[in-house]
Amino acid sequence: MSDESSADRSAGNAETRAANWAEIWEGGLRADLREVLFDAPTIHDRVVEMGRAITTHYTDRANMANMGDKSPLLLLGILKGSYPFLADLARTVNLPLTVDFMAVSSYGAGTKSSGVVRILKDLDRSIEGRHVLIVEDIIDTGLTLHYLRENLRGRGPASVEIAALLDKKSVRKGKELEDMNARYVGFECPNEFVVGYGLDYKGRYRNLPFIGVLRPEVYS
Ligand code: PRP
Repeated sequence: MSDESSADRSAGNAETRAANWAEIWEGGLRADLREVLFDAPTIHDRVVEMGRAITTHYTDRANMANMGDKSPLLLLGILKGSYPFLADLARTVNLPLTVDFMAVSSYGAGTKSSGVVRILKDLDRSIEGRHVLIVEDIIDTGLTLHYLRENLRGRGPASVEIAALLDKKSVRKGKELEDMNARYVGFECPNEFVVGYGLDYKGRYRNLPFIGVLRPEVYS
């Protein structure tokens, strides 16, 4: 296939996607969402920047680790919210890596953190000697990641770092803020109920290609 026909096809797909999303927006989403906070191109550009920074960091670390032919980097996605971010980010990291998932629960079906973190699905493989990069959609109270990071550090990894697309930094104060600082953050997020690009309300909206603010009438 020539470059030109490939470009034409991409442009056609983009138009189709735009048309579909306009319809979906007018057909109901507009009533649920107050505004679009981060649109798809903005998210894409930021994810690419994060991938570059991660590649640079772990290229050095990988050399230092001297782990022979074992891939030292593990991207650990926290289900379910991280799945689009992990999929996009993994494709921008120019290094050999493996992917694993954990599922934890910190929220109920409502909007507030319950304060309880439960492991619903653990890692498939040992992380001993591995560089672990936890990939999360959002840090809110920081409770989930604080618990997870400590839990993983107890399993003998070479390092544990965090890449979060969104950080609601303003909701954490003092020690809470110091305790939960991610090495990679996509965007600082206002203290609003955000959905899309993996983020949900009662399981819905994860498939939106952008991140928007849910109207309070929808969840109150
Ligand atoms: C969300 C998010 C984080 C956590 C952040 O997950 O994905 O894991 O909450 O909140 P915290 O900083 O206050 O602990 P959720 O429990 O909603 O599950 P989900 O990813 O399956 O939607």
